Amino acid sequence: TFVVTDNCIRCKYTDCVEVCPVDCFYEGPNFLVINPDECIDCALCEPECPANAIFSEDEIPAGQEEFLAINEELSGIWPNITEKKDALPDHEKWDGVEGKLQYLER
Ligand code: SF4
Ligand code: F3S
Repeated sequence: TFVVTDNCIRCKYTDCVEVCPVDCFYEGPNFLVINPDECIDCALCEPECPANAIFSEDEIPAGQEEFLAINEELSGIWPNITEKKDALPDHEKWDGVEGKLQYLER
């Protein structure tokens, strides 16, 4: 599966959802997740993310391993999203800030 990681938080560009052939993105207030049971590993979403927040589960950056479980959990709770919308208002300010997990809204 592919996994959405830290740098999506408070940016949420949503370019990723447009290319997913199986519509397996789910949306929270300031973050998106991928449902690992639905992702077919096509890799199309990875280069679409302006924040470079999407990784194959085999390539999750060190220290962000917990995002695999976070994607699994929240994709079972949050609603599906298939169409791009505006990024969050302060996306430029937050893009690249490290350690944003503390700001994750559920
Ligand atoms: Fe969707 Fe493919 Fe990305 Fe998986 S890797 S979330 S199937 S676009
Ligand atoms: Fe997040 Fe990147 Fe998609 S910032 S919403 S994973 S395009």
